[in-house]
Amino acid sequence: MGGDQTQLHGVPNVPAIEGRAQELATLASWISEERCRMVLLLGVGGIGKSTLAARLARDLAPEFAKVHWRSLRNAPAVEDWLGGVITALSSTQTCPPIGLEARLGLLLELLRSRRVLLVLDNLESVLEPGVPGVQYRLGYEGYGEVLRRLGESAHQGCVLVTSRERPLREDYTAVRALRLEGLNIDESRALLGRKSVAGDAEAWRALVSRYAGNPLALQMVSETIDLVFGGEIAAFLAQETAVYGSIRQLLGEQVERLSPQEQAVVGWLAEKHEPVGFVELVANLGPSVTRSGIVEAVEALQRRSLLERGTRGAFTLQPAVLEYAANAVSIERVHRRGLGRTVAAENFAEAWGGATAQPAWQNGKPVAVAW
Ligand SMILES: Nc1ncnc2c1ncn2[C@@H]1O[C@H](COP(=O)(O)OP(=O)(O)OP(=O)(O)O)[C@@H](O)[C@H]1O
Ligand SMILES: [Mg+2]
Repeated sequence: MGGDQTQLHGVPNVPAIEGRAQELATLASWISEERCRMVLLLGVGGIGKSTLAARLARDLAPEFAKVHWRSLRNAPAVEDWLGGVITALSSTQTCPPIGLEARLGLLLELLRSRRVLLVLDNLESVLEPGVPGVQYRLGYEGYGEVLRRLGESAHQGCVLVTSRERPLREDYTAVRALRLEGLNIDESRALLGRKSVAGDAEAWRALVSRYAGNPLALQMVSETIDLVFGGEIAAFLAQETAVYGSIRQLLGEQVERLSPQEQAVVGWLAEKHEPVGFVELVANLGPSVTRSGIVEAVEALQRRSLLERGTRGAFTLQPAVLEYAANAVSIERVHRRGLGRTVAAENFAEAWGGATAQPAWQNGKPVAVAW
């Protein structure tokens, strides 16, 4: 396992990981056998994208001349990222040329002469929050162009992108995407194996399902269970508080990025507390949100990994997201009652996000929902 350390630029160390054998095999076959030029690893915060990407990068290192890892958490300019890659790949110490086009051209040239794995971690950091569809933040549009060209142009390299949100539209070639789901019960138990938490089979099942097998969330709650509930999972579950402290922050980071239409859909699903079909959504949200607005919102929520598909095409929220959203709705309700107003049932966007739903898009074209 792993490659020559000198070939690994910035790849984080990985602790022992639970499960993910299937996902690793799939990703490895896309990269090594199919020779995909671009692979997306998607999923909500804390689900394990960076961990898996680092494991994969280390496992596949022997087949690459170099592996270059960069987190976009601090939103570096795309020219800086290109410059860093060029410097790492060049044998000479020459300065990278000036400008995006020149740097991209040189990078493509370098990628034609040797096989390199480029990892871009946390791409959502350069995506605009609160807008329907995919839009890069002002000043970061270059990432879209660079990714498109790296996906389309002939070269020997591979770009592995991790993101909480799907960054690209479907019309990119040679792109494969894997959405990471939570760990199963056995894997979650193994994850928390060394923590002082205990419970019977039903307690474990309920705990894992409450946090949809999210390793970060499970690690956070295990601390609380240990410190506050004497390690008793059942005692913690009995409190019926899934969202608090750092988990609230984790969810808040993602929920704040939703557009008003998405907030309307989430608010209503949270209120409803059970899977809802598209027709029912339209019936209940209209006329404050247009039909096309709802299609777009549902698509966007799936792109952000927040919405799940239940049986017979119904939609539902992940349990912790549901609780977070339901709390947000009721807090807003109480606040509004205090002001002597009641919340109109059809306007959850306002109730939940404090914003009024806008007509979704300018071109008026209904968007196909890709499942
Ligand atoms: N399969 C796994 N086995 C053991 N631990 C895991 C696994 N996946 C994730 N973890 C742990 O869960 C935490 C969150 O994982 P990670 O940082 O990879 O999530 P992420 O999806 O990259 O989140 P973000 O969107 O915030 O970047 C880390 O502490 C990591 O060590
Ligand atoms: Mg990460």
